[in-house]
This record gives sequence, structure tokens and C-alpha cells, in this order.
Amino acid sequence: MINKCLFPAAGYGTRFLPATKATPKEMLPVLTKPLIQYGVEEALDAGITTMAIVTGRGKRAIEDHFDISYELEHQIKGTSKEPLLDEIRTLISQCTFSYTRQTEMKGLGHAILTGETLIGNEPFAVLLADDLCDNAILKQMVKVYEKYECSIIAIEEIPTSQTDRYGIVAGHLIDNSDDTYRVTDMVEKPAPDEAPSNMAIIGRYILTPDIFEILKHTKPGKGGEIQITDALLEQARKGKVIAYKFKGKRFDCGSVEGFVKATNYFFNKGEEQ
Ligand code: G1P
Repeated sequence: MINKCLFPAAGYGTRFLPATKATPKEMLPVLTKPLIQYGVEEALDAGITTMAIVTGRGKRAIEDHFDISYELEHQIKGTSKEPLLDEIRTLISQCTFSYTRQTEMKGLGHAILTGETLIGNEPFAVLLADDLCDNAILKQMVKVYEKYECSIIAIEEIPTSQTDRYGIVAGHLIDNSDDTYRVTDMVEKPAPDEAPSNMAIIGRYILTPDIFEILKHTKPGKGGEIQITDALLEQARKGKVIAYKFKGKRFDCGSVEGFVKATNYFFNKGEEQ
């Protein structure tokens, strides 16, 4: 039922300068794979085959990554290195990729609205590649969507001292068996003493397409940017947002600390296999 996944990938990645001066942050590798490839794999695992990527200036490497490199293929054909391209080749053959550019950086809500042209009038997933997840979280969320048929956000409990790094939600538990909450309030990056809870939104969403109309009249919020959290609050007030406490691990690869943890985790996991 969810066929498309939107990847907002226009941000500057300033926390990773100078590495992100000429390289998109989505292309930073954890082991040998760029972050965005993990994201595309997660979407595919959820049965999604259309990848809609919102890029910006300096992000061409993303398009090249999800394309065939004839020169490279020619060079390594028949050598021991050839199998290293098998995984990405298979991935490319299973998905389609479309791109649009965000010309001004006006926030995550604005980036999602920029993607409307690629999504159209259907529910869709949103995946922020710098939240690297290990356990098919989008697949879990698609199941939750099939049950409730409204917008779904993935949440995680975080230490109260960190509320100012995330969108924070409040809600009522509706089903203990699948850890779902009906959202009643949402605030973008509140100070700890103003946060309605310690339940943080992580970078996985399933959105119903009416979000685009809402985003068109959403005023700039935190940081002067158009926030998806504020647009979702409008849906939440009508009882149309479910928060889902996902099962699995998430690494904040937008921070150096999270990136190092992810690298160690995936390295150790590979060693165990
Ligand atoms: C965005 C959202 C925020 C959410 C976070 C998850 O913030 O605005 O609500 O909690 O993603 O990663 P950003 O990290 O882009 O500043």
C-alpha cells in the first residue's frame, strides 16, 4: 500500500565539516556503504520500490551512486573486485529513483513539500538517512499504517536532557501489544522543562498526502524553518497521527558520536557473521 519513499537529502551536513564540504552527508560511509544506501535498502525491505530523493546543489554524487558506472564496471570486470558491486547493482535493478531539487533550505517541512511533485496524491514514507536503523523499522511502520490508515511517526524514549534535539510527542497508549499511541501534542525541539514527554520522533514517517496542503500554510516555526512537526500537529488535533515505538536500534549519524557508534556496531555485527 505504500509505494514511494521520500528522502530529504538537501541539507548541508555542517556538523561534519570539512568532510561534507564537497561530499553530500548522505554519502558518508558506514563501513563500505553510504548512509543513503542503507536507507534505500530499508525502504525496499518494506516493499517500497519508488525512491523519491529531494537533493540540492552539490549532491550529484547521490544520483551517480544509484546509477551504473560503465567505466568502473569495465575496469573491474573479471577481477576479484567485481563482486563488491553486486549488492548495489541488484538494488538499482529493483528500484526506480527520481529526483527534485530544493533550491532554498527552509526546513524539513519545506523539503517534504518540495517532494510533492514526485509523490502525488498517495500515502508515502519519509526516511532521513542520517538516522541509521538496524531492524527494518519502515517495514514495521507499514504494518501499523495498514491498521490505522493515518500518518505514523516512529518514536523512541530519550534522556530528558536531549529533548531540544528532536520533535517531542505526547499521546495516549492505544495498543499495548503493538506499542502505538494516539498523538495529542507535538513540539519541535523543546527545552527539557517545556517538553511534553521524553518520546522523540526519529527520522521515519508515513504521511498521508493531505500533509502537502497543510505544509503550504504552515508558518515558519523553530529556527525560522517550516517544520514537519508543526504540520503533523494539525493532523494530530484531528486524531490522525499515531506514534509507534519501534523495535530495533537507531544511530544518530548526524552526530560524530552516533556515527562512530554505528560504525562499531555494524563492524562487530559483520565479524559475528
Ligand atoms: C528532524 C525533525 C525532528 C526529528 C528529527 C529526527 O530534525 O525536525 O522533529 O526529531 O529530524 O532525526 P533534524 O534532525 O533534521 O534537525
